[in-house]
Amino acid sequence: MSAAGLSEPILSKSSIAPPLWLLVELTYRCPLHCIFCYNPVNYAQNRDELSTAQWVDVMRQARTLGAAQLGFSGGEPLLRDDLEELIVEGRRLGYYTNLITSGVGLTEDRIARMRDAGLDHIQLSFQDSTKEMNDFLTSTKTFDLKSRVATLIKKYEYPMVLNVVLHRYNLDHVDRIIQMALEMGVEYLELANTQYYGWGLVNRAHLMPSHEQLKRAEAIVNDYRARVGNKIRILFVVPDYFEERPKACMNGWGAVFLAIAADGSALPCHAAKSLPGLDFPNVAQHSIRDIWYHSDAFNKYRGDAWMKEPCKTCPEKEKDFGGCRCQALALTGDAANADPVCSKSPQHAEVQEIVRQAHQSQRSAQSNSQPIMFRTDANSISLSAKDS
Ligand code: FES
Repeated sequence: MSAAGLSEPILSKSSIAPPLWLLVELTYRCPLHCIFCYNPVNYAQNRDELSTAQWVDVMRQARTLGAAQLGFSGGEPLLRDDLEELIVEGRRLGYYTNLITSGVGLTEDRIARMRDAGLDHIQLSFQDSTKEMNDFLTSTKTFDLKSRVATLIKKYEYPMVLNVVLHRYNLDHVDRIIQMALEMGVEYLELANTQYYGWGLVNRAHLMPSHEQLKRAEAIVNDYRARVGNKIRILFVVPDYFEERPKACMNGWGAVFLAIAADGSALPCHAAKSLPGLDFPNVAQHSIRDIWYHSDAFNKYRGDAWMKEPCKTCPEKEKDFGGCRCQALALTGDAANADPVCSKSPQHAEVQEIVRQAHQSQRSAQSNSQPIMFRTDANSISLSAKDS
């Protein structure tokens, strides 16, 4: 291995497919303070952001390697004044471009400029169907503003894609959330149950739903699907803590997904910075080609040579790649363990216990002694201090 953390890939270079999906997390600044945000808990420790020229270079290099989809996210990507310029470049390079936004800052002037720039797709997040809960979960007053943005997205003839993260506080509103989506003319509704990384993991005891809540919500979704048919496509992503097998996270480590954090760190998934002992290369020092094919960080969990039992000899390893590395780390302390949501994992009982406790605390309306941590700079700094 060289000092730069580059080495020969474990798999031969010809067997490593190029990245298909480039996600640029332009900034970790965000006007919202969502309690389930997947950004790193310690985001406030490093406020560096790549320049416009550096982002353009990242997009160009990844496109040369083969990336076809480009997502602009954050934080809130609209906080970057150069977003329109980056969209123009993305389209010129031939990407399919997608803006992932809270809607805050999406004025008519900006959406018109983005349309002119050639932006293909906008994914708008809402936190709930009620103003009270939406504003509580984000610690802002943004519900009305988001509703206006939804109207603008329709006016500018974008396909309407709405994302709502689900958890204990809003699962019982699924009926109203779907109704709101229908009224807005949403074509694609993503109901994504919280994944417990970043701030979601910090607030897990507050967010974890009960089995009953999930079952009720899923039945409502299925009922709508049967009634409204193709008028709206509803994706309902069950939280993996409630499953018997893990998700094929990122479709495999270093397989198709390349995320670039605001400061230029290249990551195989948004949560990867939580993994200790990995030196994530920065695009300011290394080419995307070297990062993708030769960096230790991207090669670490490629293929199956790194696997331990039970994954090593599991017939399903080709399908789920041992699950999620970040979750294995968060729940077992070792990212090379099987993701413990898998019933074959020796630590699976701990996941079942977390779910059982969530159920019990809801039944007894037991209040949680740990306060909710909103995603704020102050909380980021105090949580990082605790961890160090
Ligand atoms: Fe990092 Fe699953 S979120 S590998």
